[in-house]
Amino acid sequence: MNNNKQFIPINRPDFNNEDIELYLKFKYGLYKENCKINELEERFSEYLGGEYEVVFTSSAKMSLYLLLKFINNKGKVLSTPLTCFAALSPIIANSLNIHYSDINTDDFNLDSSLIKNTKLEGIDSIILNYFGGSPFDINEIIDYAKRNNITIIEDCAQSLGGEIESRPLGSFGDHSFFSFTKHLSLVGGGLLASKNKSLIDRVRKYQSQLPPVPINLLDYRLKRDIIEKNLGDKAFNKSYEINFLSKQNEYEEKDPRTNFLKTSVLSKPIDLQAAVILNQFERLFDMIDRRWRNAKELTEKIKTIKSINSQKIFGQSAYAKYYIKTTRPNKEIINYLNYNGIDAKQLTKSHGFYMQLPINETKYYYDSSIENCNVYMKMFNSILELPLSSNMDKDEINYIAKHLKRLFNE
Ligand SMILES: Cc1ncc(COP(=O)(O)O)c(C=O)c1O
Repeated sequence: MNNNKQFIPINRPDFNNEDIELYLKFKYGLYKENCKINELEERFSEYLGGEYEVVFTSSAKMSLYLLLKFINNKGKVLSTPLTCFAALSPIIANSLNIHYSDINTDDFNLDSSLIKNTKLEGIDSIILNYFGGSPFDINEIIDYAKRNNITIIEDCAQSLGGEIESRPLGSFGDHSFFSFTKHLSLVGGGLLASKNKSLIDRVRKYQSQLPPVPINLLDYRLKRDIIEKNLGDKAFNKSYEINFLSKQNEYEEKDPRTNFLKTSVLSKPIDLQAAVILNQFERLFDMIDRRWRNAKELTEKIKTIKSINSQKIFGQSAYAKYYIKTTRPNKEIINYLNYNGIDAKQLTKSHGFYMQLPINETKYYYDSSIENCNVYMKMFNSILELPLSSNMDKDEINYIAKHLKRLFNE
């Protein structure tokens, strides 16, 4: 890491004092439960247009895990290979197989022409995963799914607030799920939405018997988010280095089945989380607006670098993440940027490491369909995520652009 003031996190959490106060009240036993879970669920059902029954969960992972547990589909689940393992682990944890379909070189999302032109055998569900929060051409996939009696699940973990023609992502499929750890911060949480009310009733009943989200996980998130919000300040940089960067090591593959037995994953959310999320949800579209402006400015600044292409954005992206592809190995660029105080990652969101294994080299995520995903294979070593925050300033954007230009000699 560089020794001057600069340290730019991949995403600077955007919370305010009221959010912290709520948390501290809770911590010191002064928080009064106030049906915030019901309120959040109602607010979300309204946001999705009223057609969906929704249940608040402890994470996006748990939402997909619970959905697949109660949906009773036994066939394969079609997914993009270009995603973090957190998006795939609930499928494996349910002992289902994944069929990988290749991606598009421009928007990095599923290539819909491949799906509609291929005869897919044994697929029960298709997951529409909006890479970085950016929508893509989903109409043909949805038509194909309807004709073939395939369930559409929208993974909106990165795309809360994104839209296609003014309609929110998450309101196109049979089911959808969200994460409150990308745009929103401090407390985590997720949400499952479905057009099938009895399925949500069963999920709710099962979830009610789980232990509540562990307090030490909430404490960890609070500490991490406060440190990340204040990066750039010397003391916080040091604390980040000690707490997170020092733990940076090679990615180690874990069995998703055992992961879903841990109480940090298999738990139910609490009222306090819903209260903090409700507060932040009111500011979501303002945050997205500012993310959009910063993404646009960063794109302008780096578009002259011939060896870099920014992700092509269609529709109204939620701008959870800013992705580029380059002609140099991403690992090399990530190391260079990190050294200069700029966080950068490949696909994973974890704070310990920044590269995943390619799916063809994994033990738990492998399926032979990955061998046909040539674009994914090529892109695996060339895409990376640059910092993008609602509260980035111009100096930070200039600093990132300057270092990328320097690296590429432009
Ligand atoms: C596309 C996608 N799906 C699911 C998840 C899991 O989200 P959560 O951390 O809320 O379980 C992530 C998290 O990184 C993600 O990026």
